[in-house]
Amino acid sequence: MSSLLLKAHAIAHRFDYTLFTDIDFTLAPYQSKAIVGRSGSGKSTLLHILSTFMPPNEGSVSVLGQDIYHLTEDKIESLRRYNIGIIFQFHYLFKGMSAIDNIEVASMLSGEKIDEGILEKLEIKSLMQQRIGDLSGGQQQRVSIARVLSKKPRIIFADEPTGNLDKETATLVMDVLLDYCKSTGAGLLLVTHDEAMARRCNGVYTLEDKVLKEDSIEAL
Ligand SMILES: Nc1ncnc2c1ncn2[C@@H]1O[C@H](COP(=O)(O)OP(=O)(O)OP(=O)(O)O)[C@@H](O)[C@H]1O
Ligand SMILES: [Mg+2]
Repeated sequence: MSSLLLKAHAIAHRFDYTLFTDIDFTLAPYQSKAIVGRSGSGKSTLLHILSTFMPPNEGSVSVLGQDIYHLTEDKIESLRRYNIGIIFQFHYLFKGMSAIDNIEVASMLSGEKIDEGILEKLEIKSLMQQRIGDLSGGQQQRVSIARVLSKKPRIIFADEPTGNLDKETATLVMDVLLDYCKSTGAGLLLVTHDEAMARRCNGVYTLEDKVLKEDSIEAL
């Protein structure tokens, strides 16, 4: 069996026009890869395709050795619940509930314990009793990241996780994501507009002219 966490082959997708074609992509344990590209180039769409949420027009995606678009609903549901963590570009927290209750929902569903160390590192431990609606955008963003990590996923898909954060907080979030991969062997796929964050990953790819190109370090 392949030891890859994720393997995508010959992915193509179009809405009104062709967004991208012939994309091959892999992610191994402990590996972090960043995808950059202009707004509208299709980065979020590609991330949704790779993370079980949108079947592509063409190509195949396998996650942990399973061909995800040919699985039963039960099996997809179980992959999402236990193995895949998605940090969305626009996060989805329950606004009326406290921060800690939001995090507990995720860890209860996956049967994992909340890691207090992650709350500390993200500097949100003291905010846990506050209602989400009363937190700032950047604080909510960090709660949503803690929620994803607390279920101990094997692959993290992160779409602009540092988008509305100042540089210092963004660096801290990136530290937490990379530390998590290093300590658990998880893989990280990061979509970002922030080149400094992208460069901290093991590989950087640009979605441009409908294809995904691997950047050489010198080009960055
Ligand atoms: N469900 C959809 N139906 C129709 N068109 C869509 C859909 N989702 C995305 N698109 C279109 O596909 C294109 C790529 O969108 P996508 O969100 O993937 O871009 P992106 O690279 O993530 O951009 P950004 O950097 O602004 O987040 C856009 O033109 C968008 O309008
Ligand atoms: Mg996007």
